[in-house]
Amino acid sequence: MTELRILPAAAWGDQVAADLADRLRATPALRLCLPTGATPVPVYEALVRRVRSGEATFADATVVLLDEWVGLPPGDPARCDTRLRAQLLDRLPAPPAAVHAIDVDDPDLDAAVARHAAAAVGLDLVVLGLGMNGHVGFNEPGSLPDSPTRIVRLAASSREAAMARYGASTVPTAGITVGMDRILAAGEVWLLVTGDRKAGILRRALRDPEDPDCPASCLRRHPNLQVIVDEEAAALLA
Ligand code: F6R
Repeated sequence: MTELRILPAAAWGDQVAADLADRLRATPALRLCLPTGATPVPVYEALVRRVRSGEATFADATVVLLDEWVGLPPGDPARCDTRLRAQLLDRLPAPPAAVHAIDVDDPDLDAAVARHAAAAVGLDLVVLGLGMNGHVGFNEPGSLPDSPTRIVRLAASSREAAMARYGASTVPTAGITVGMDRILAAGEVWLLVTGDRKAGILRRALRDPEDPDCPASCLRRHPNLQVIVDEEAAALLA
Protein backbone atom coordinates (compact mmCIF):
# COMPACT_ATOMS: atom_id res chain seq x y z
CA MET A 1 0.00 0.00 0.00
CA THR A 2 1.17 3.52 -0.77
CA GLU A 3 0.47 6.20 1.81
CA LEU A 4 0.86 9.78 0.62
CA ARG A 5 1.48 12.35 3.33
CA ILE A 6 1.47 16.02 2.37
CA LEU A 7 2.92 18.33 5.01
CA PRO A 8 3.46 22.10 5.21
CA ALA A 9 7.03 22.89 4.11
CA ALA A 10 7.88 24.49 7.47
CA ALA A 11 6.91 21.36 9.41
CA TRP A 12 8.14 18.74 6.96
CA GLY A 13 11.73 18.13 8.16
CA ASP A 14 10.84 17.95 11.83
CA GLN A 15 7.90 15.61 11.20
CA VAL A 16 10.05 13.16 9.22
CA ALA A 17 12.68 13.35 11.99
CA ALA A 18 9.99 12.67 14.60
CA ASP A 19 8.88 9.62 12.62
CA LEU A 20 12.46 8.36 12.39
CA ALA A 21 12.92 8.85 16.14
CA ASP A 22 9.72 6.81 16.65
CA ARG A 23 11.10 3.98 14.54
CA LEU A 24 14.38 4.01 16.48
CA ARG A 25 12.50 3.88 19.78
CA ALA A 26 10.29 1.02 18.61
CA THR A 27 13.19 -0.95 17.11
CA PRO A 28 16.52 0.10 18.68
CA ALA A 29 18.45 -2.33 16.44
CA LEU A 30 16.87 -0.78 13.34
CA ARG A 31 18.64 -1.54 10.04
CA LEU A 32 18.27 1.72 8.20
CA CYS A 33 19.37 2.77 4.71
CA LEU A 34 19.88 6.53 4.36
CA PRO A 35 20.31 8.91 1.41
CA THR A 36 22.18 12.17 1.14
CA GLY A 37 21.45 15.05 -1.24
CA ALA A 38 19.65 18.26 -0.35
CA THR A 39 16.24 16.79 0.52
CA PRO A 40 17.11 15.09 3.83
CA VAL A 41 19.20 17.98 5.21
CA PRO A 42 16.37 19.46 7.34
CA VAL A 43 15.43 15.96 8.48
CA TYR A 44 18.95 15.24 9.72
CA GLU A 45 19.18 18.65 11.38
CA ALA A 46 15.98 17.97 13.33
CA LEU A 47 16.93 14.37 14.03
CA VAL A 48 20.26 15.41 15.59
CA ARG A 49 18.31 17.75 17.90
CA ARG A 50 15.88 15.00 18.83
CA VAL A 51 18.62 12.43 19.49
CA ARG A 52 20.64 14.95 21.53
CA SER A 53 17.58 15.63 23.65
CA GLY A 54 17.36 11.91 24.44
CA GLU A 55 14.26 11.07 22.39
CA ALA A 56 16.00 8.25 20.54
CA THR A 57 19.43 6.77 19.98
CA PHE A 58 21.31 5.21 17.10
CA ALA A 59 23.53 3.29 19.54
CA ASP A 60 22.06 -0.09 18.58
CA ALA A 61 21.13 0.79 15.00
CA THR A 62 22.87 -0.11 11.75
CA VAL A 63 23.14 2.56 9.05
CA VAL A 64 23.66 1.49 5.43
CA LEU A 65 24.49 4.22 2.93
CA LEU A 66 22.22 4.25 -0.09
CA ASP A 67 24.77 5.20 -2.72
CA GLU A 68 28.16 6.71 -3.46
CA TRP A 69 30.02 8.43 -6.24
CA VAL A 70 32.98 6.67 -7.84
CA GLY A 71 35.99 8.82 -8.77
CA LEU A 72 35.80 11.41 -6.00
CA PRO A 73 38.64 11.41 -3.48
CA PRO A 74 38.08 10.51 0.19
CA GLY A 75 36.69 13.51 2.05
CA ASP A 76 35.38 15.18 -1.11
CA PRO A 77 32.50 17.47 -0.06
CA ALA A 78 30.12 15.76 -2.49
CA ARG A 79 30.87 12.23 -1.29
CA CYS A 80 27.83 10.66 0.33
CA ASP A 81 29.92 9.34 3.22
CA THR A 82 31.39 12.81 3.86
CA ARG A 83 27.95 14.39 3.79
CA LEU A 84 26.17 11.84 5.96
CA ARG A 85 28.92 11.99 8.57
CA ALA A 86 28.92 15.80 8.63
CA GLN A 87 25.13 16.20 8.65
CA LEU A 88 24.18 13.33 10.96
CA LEU A 89 26.54 10.59 12.06
CA ASP A 90 29.37 12.66 13.55
CA ARG A 91 26.87 14.85 15.39
CA LEU A 92 25.20 12.04 17.32
CA PRO A 93 26.07 11.71 21.01
CA ALA A 94 26.56 7.97 20.49
CA PRO A 95 27.54 6.60 17.09
CA PRO A 96 25.46 3.87 15.42
CA ALA A 97 26.38 0.29 16.28
CA ALA A 98 27.49 -0.12 12.64
CA VAL A 99 27.83 2.12 9.59
CA HIS A 100 28.19 0.55 6.16
CA ALA A 101 29.59 3.12 3.75
CA ILE A 102 30.34 2.00 0.18
CA ASP A 103 34.06 1.40 -0.13
CA VAL A 104 34.66 3.18 -3.42
CA ASP A 105 38.34 3.58 -2.49
CA ASP A 106 38.86 -0.18 -2.81
CA PRO A 107 40.61 -0.77 -6.17
CA ASP A 108 38.46 -3.90 -6.44
CA LEU A 109 35.09 -2.21 -6.91
CA ASP A 110 33.32 -5.49 -7.62
CA ALA A 111 34.34 -6.70 -4.17
CA ALA A 112 33.10 -3.42 -2.65
CA VAL A 113 29.75 -3.89 -4.43
CA ALA A 114 29.45 -7.47 -3.17
CA ARG A 115 30.13 -6.35 0.41
CA HIS A 116 27.54 -3.59 0.16
CA ALA A 117 24.93 -5.89 -1.37
CA ALA A 118 25.44 -8.16 1.65
CA ALA A 119 25.19 -5.22 4.05
CA ALA A 120 21.87 -4.20 2.48
CA VAL A 121 20.15 -7.54 3.13
CA GLY A 122 17.25 -7.37 5.59
CA LEU A 123 16.78 -3.62 5.83
CA ASP A 124 13.93 -2.51 8.07
CA LEU A 125 13.58 0.92 6.48
CA VAL A 126 14.95 2.54 3.34
CA VAL A 127 14.70 6.34 3.10
CA LEU A 128 14.97 7.77 -0.42
CA GLY A 129 15.07 11.12 -2.19
CA LEU A 130 13.72 11.58 -5.71
CA GLY A 131 15.93 12.60 -8.63
CA MET A 132 14.67 15.04 -11.24
CA ASN A 133 14.75 12.15 -13.74
CA GLY A 134 12.90 9.76 -11.42
CA HIS A 135 15.99 8.03 -10.06
CA VAL A 136 16.12 6.65 -6.53
CA GLY A 137 19.61 6.17 -5.13
CA PHE A 138 21.58 5.86 -8.35
CA ASN A 139 18.96 3.58 -9.86
CA GLU A 140 18.77 5.70 -12.99
CA PRO A 141 16.05 5.48 -15.67
CA GLY A 142 16.03 1.96 -17.13
CA SER A 143 16.53 0.30 -13.74
CA LEU A 144 14.21 -2.62 -13.14
CA PRO A 145 12.55 -3.77 -9.92
CA ASP A 146 15.07 -6.59 -9.66
CA SER A 147 18.13 -4.48 -10.47
CA PRO A 148 20.84 -5.44 -7.98
CA THR A 149 23.32 -3.40 -5.97
CA ARG A 150 25.84 -2.44 -8.63
CA ILE A 151 28.15 0.01 -10.35
CA VAL A 152 26.12 2.32 -12.58
CA ARG A 153 26.79 4.74 -15.37
CA LEU A 154 25.45 8.06 -14.17
CA ALA A 155 22.99 10.14 -16.15
CA ALA A 156 24.54 13.43 -17.28
CA SER A 157 22.15 15.27 -14.94
CA SER A 158 23.47 13.26 -11.98
CA ARG A 159 27.11 13.99 -12.83
CA GLU A 160 26.26 17.67 -13.20
CA ALA A 161 24.47 17.62 -9.83
CA ALA A 162 27.67 16.34 -8.19
CA MET A 163 29.53 19.41 -9.38
CA ALA A 164 26.89 22.13 -9.36
CA ARG A 165 24.76 21.17 -6.37
CA TYR A 166 27.09 19.29 -4.07
CA GLY A 167 30.46 20.92 -4.84
CA ALA A 168 32.44 17.90 -6.05
CA SER A 169 36.11 18.63 -6.71
CA THR A 170 36.02 16.65 -9.96
CA VAL A 171 33.44 14.92 -12.17
CA PRO A 172 32.55 11.49 -10.81
CA THR A 173 33.08 8.63 -13.21
CA ALA A 174 30.29 6.34 -12.00
CA GLY A 175 28.13 5.53 -9.02
CA ILE A 176 27.43 2.56 -6.80
CA THR A 177 23.89 2.13 -5.52
CA VAL A 178 21.88 -0.17 -3.37
CA GLY A 179 19.75 -1.97 -5.93
CA MET A 180 16.01 -1.81 -6.50
CA ASP A 181 15.90 -5.46 -5.35
CA ARG A 182 17.14 -4.60 -1.86
CA ILE A 183 14.98 -1.47 -1.66
CA LEU A 184 11.83 -3.40 -2.60
CA ALA A 185 12.72 -6.17 -0.11
CA ALA A 186 12.96 -3.75 2.84
CA GLY A 187 10.29 -3.73 5.53
CA GLU A 188 9.35 -0.12 4.79
CA VAL A 189 10.26 2.47 2.17
CA TRP A 190 9.91 6.24 2.64
CA LEU A 191 10.21 8.46 -0.43
CA LEU A 192 10.97 12.05 0.60
CA VAL A 193 10.19 14.83 -1.87
CA THR A 194 10.24 18.60 -1.37
CA GLY A 195 10.04 21.73 -3.47
CA ASP A 196 8.12 22.80 -6.57
CA ARG A 197 10.92 21.69 -8.91
CA LYS A 198 10.02 18.07 -8.06
CA ALA A 199 6.25 18.47 -8.61
CA GLY A 200 6.31 17.16 -12.19
CA ILE A 201 8.45 14.10 -11.56
CA LEU A 202 6.53 13.28 -8.37
CA ARG A 203 3.30 13.33 -10.33
CA ARG A 204 4.84 11.01 -12.90
CA ALA A 205 6.14 8.66 -10.18
CA LEU A 206 2.76 8.40 -8.44
CA ARG A 207 0.09 8.95 -11.05
CA ASP A 208 1.42 7.62 -14.39
CA PRO A 209 1.65 3.87 -15.06
CA GLU A 210 4.66 2.12 -13.53
CA ASP A 211 7.59 2.62 -15.90
CA PRO A 212 11.28 1.69 -15.55
CA ASP A 213 12.06 5.04 -17.21
CA CYS A 214 10.92 6.53 -13.90
CA PRO A 215 12.35 4.05 -11.36
CA ALA A 216 10.54 5.76 -8.46
CA SER A 217 7.23 4.66 -10.03
CA CYS A 218 8.25 1.02 -9.36
CA LEU A 219 8.27 1.73 -5.61
CA ARG A 220 4.46 1.64 -5.71
CA ARG A 221 4.59 -2.14 -5.84
CA HIS A 222 6.12 -2.10 -2.33
CA PRO A 223 3.53 -3.19 0.29
CA ASN A 224 4.60 -0.52 2.76
CA LEU A 225 5.58 2.69 0.96
CA GLN A 226 5.17 6.15 2.48
CA VAL A 227 5.61 9.14 0.19
CA ILE A 228 6.25 12.09 2.49
CA VAL A 229 6.19 15.38 0.63
CA ASP A 230 5.74 19.08 1.23
CA GLU A 231 2.87 21.09 -0.24
CA GLU A 232 5.06 22.49 -3.01
CA ALA A 233 6.10 19.10 -4.32
CA ALA A 234 2.46 17.97 -4.13
CA ALA A 235 1.21 20.88 -6.27
CA LEU A 236 0.47 18.74 -9.37
CA LEU A 237 -0.97 15.67 -7.62
CA ALA A 238 -4.63 16.71 -7.59
C1 F6R B 1 21.46 10.70 -2.74
C2 F6R B 1 20.60 9.97 -3.68
C3 F6R B 1 19.90 10.67 -4.81
C4 F6R B 1 19.09 11.87 -4.33
C5 F6R B 1 18.31 12.51 -5.47
C6 F6R B 1 17.62 13.78 -5.02
O1 F6R B 1 22.02 9.81 -1.81
O2 F6R B 1 20.45 8.81 -3.54
O3 F6R B 1 19.08 9.74 -5.46
O4 F6R B 1 18.20 11.45 -3.33
O5 F6R B 1 19.15 12.81 -6.54
O6 F6R B 1 18.62 14.73 -4.69
P1 F6R B 1 18.28 16.05 -3.90
O7 F6R B 1 17.73 15.64 -2.59
O8 F6R B 1 19.60 16.76 -3.76
O9 F6R B 1 17.29 16.80 -4.72
